Amino acid sequence: MTLYSRITGTGSFLPPRRLTNADLAAELASKGVETSDEWIVERTGIKARHFAAPDVSSSDLAVEAARHAMDAAGLKPSDIDLIIVATSTPDMVFPSAACIVQHKLGIAGCPAFDVQAVCSGFVYALTVADAMIKTGTARKALVIGAEVFSRILDFSDRTTCVLFGDGAGAVVLEASTTPGILSSDLHADGKHVDILCVPGHVSGGQAQGNPLLKMDGPAVFKLAVGVLESSARAVLAKANLLDTDIDWLIPHQANIRIMQSTAKKLKLPLEKLIVTVDEHGNTSAASIPLALDVAVRSGKVKKGDTVMLEGVGGGFTWGAVLLNY
Ligand code: UT7
Repeated sequence: MTLYSRITGTGSFLPPRRLTNADLAAELASKGVETSDEWIVERTGIKARHFAAPDVSSSDLAVEAARHAMDAAGLKPSDIDLIIVATSTPDMVFPSAACIVQHKLGIAGCPAFDVQAVCSGFVYALTVADAMIKTGTARKALVIGAEVFSRILDFSDRTTCVLFGDGAGAVVLEASTTPGILSSDLHADGKHVDILCVPGHVSGGQAQGNPLLKMDGPAVFKLAVGVLESSARAVLAKANLLDTDIDWLIPHQANIRIMQSTAKKLKLPLEKLIVTVDEHGNTSAASIPLALDVAVRSGKVKKGDTVMLEGVGGGFTWGAVLLNY
């Protein structure tokens, strides 16, 4: 019998501290950094973001999102036999956030590891979990995207610090006799490493180099628009489907203009585009599962819908997953 994988539950968690653009602009003004609600909304579509308290880590956010996903799937932590966390802001250099999540969930023994593909992390992690389920290595996986990007922002750089937020999203992916994940398409091109990176690293007992995010926004924008269309077309072709078969497009939530441009290229009406960037900002690897959970819980995404997930970000990495929800 052919084995497939299927999402059986979604969950998400946002830290309670919510900052509107006006709140952030006021905080930045006190440091001599000038920005405005008008600029942020017009250029990005972002109206607010959430920031975690200083003692809250990615694994804390991940555990909350995972618990919601397991509740939705009707599972207990002891049912889980694989944990993958997509994150670029793990609690420690090592061990992985996934091992810490496993321990906080009160379980032990199952494989647990992180996937580091920045904002494409969730589509990478979902593809890995799908492959492990299809080959019989796991049956009930937790696939999580969790980030505290507020920790790596340079609050003196207005071109980046207004864009990102913290949060986590999770899915339970289970073995199934009917197809859930239909196709995946993953890519990377390391020659673009410099356009979006945190160049610092730990060495000799201290942080070496700049430990804060730097991005050439316009360069990332230009690359993102092109690769998102090609990846969308690739997963459709692999699944023998057409763009008219897509019920919902859930792209990485970085900039409303990039998301709308992809929808337009796929000739999708904007009502089929799930948008949470307005309320979450860019939460990197967490943005897609967060948006999926919002779409499921609001009643938009229903059982049987064809959903396209798309990620793009640092690396440069990009990819898509097409699924039957
Ligand atoms: O998550 C990974 C993927 N990341 C992305 O997809 C991000 C992709 N890039 C973008 O979303 C956009 O490029 C940005 C939102 C980052 C920037 O938008 P843009 O339309 O490309 O603006 P720009 O960088 O060309 O800047 C336009 C102007 C500049 O002023 P001058 O030089 O024209 O006088 C900036 O200094 O806007 C200025 N500016 C700001 N003004 C007020 C830049 N940031 C701000 C700010 N507030 N926060």
